[in-house]
Amino acid sequence: MLIRNATMADLPAIADVEKRCFPPQEAATEEEFRERLAAYADCFWLLFEDGRLVSFIDGMATDEPDLRDEMYADASLHRKDGHWQMIFGLNTLPEYRRRGYAARLVERLAEEAKRRGKIGVVLTCKERLVPYYESLGFKYEGASSSTHGDAVWHQMRMIFPA
Ligand SMILES: CC(C)(COP(=O)(O)OP(=O)(O)OC[C@H]1O[C@@H](n2cnc3c(N)ncnc32)[C@H](O)[C@@H]1OP(=O)(O)O)[C@@H](O)C(=O)NCCC(=O)NCCS
Repeated sequence: MLIRNATMADLPAIADVEKRCFPPQEAATEEEFRERLAAYADCFWLLFEDGRLVSFIDGMATDEPDLRDEMYADASLHRKDGHWQMIFGLNTLPEYRRRGYAARLVERLAEEAKRRGKIGVVLTCKERLVPYYESLGFKYEGASSSTHGDAVWHQMRMIFPA
């Protein structure tokens, strides 16, 4: 198993995993990933098993404390030195789930964000995943303003110890 940051060459594999993990109205498009990779390939962490991309996590850095929908679509909002690391997507291919891969990626993202001087990590998720993220160290903050994909989202935050 290998975890590394992304390059533009990973674009097709990333878009393919996304398509297999999210319904069409929620999945980021290949074009959105192209823009994200151009702006912040170092805020993608990719997990490979047997040379195949099976899981990844991504999100921009920002000084804004709350995750809002515009951030998903507009990669220019990324601030490399921003205080917060956002999580936009966390995906594991169905046949590789329940092996702890997503947890490993969250852990790696948090380690790296702390090393980069961030205050913490923010994400939004559906209600059913709240206990999962709590188990990884996030605190529930309430319903998000997000209407992404016409779903209801909940914001969660992990603050690093000083
Ligand atoms: C949510 C998602 C990313 C989780 O990926 P994953 O790699 O299976 O995650 P993990 O293996 O870390 O944990 C998943 C579950 O497996 C359990 N698990 C972890 N390792 C395990 C192991 N070795 N054996 C059995 N179960 C295990 C975890 O405890 C967790 O259990 P829970 O659901 O009861 O909390 C994946 O299901 C997915 O891509 N879903 C679709 C997209 C999505 O909704 N993404 C989240 C957006 S916010």
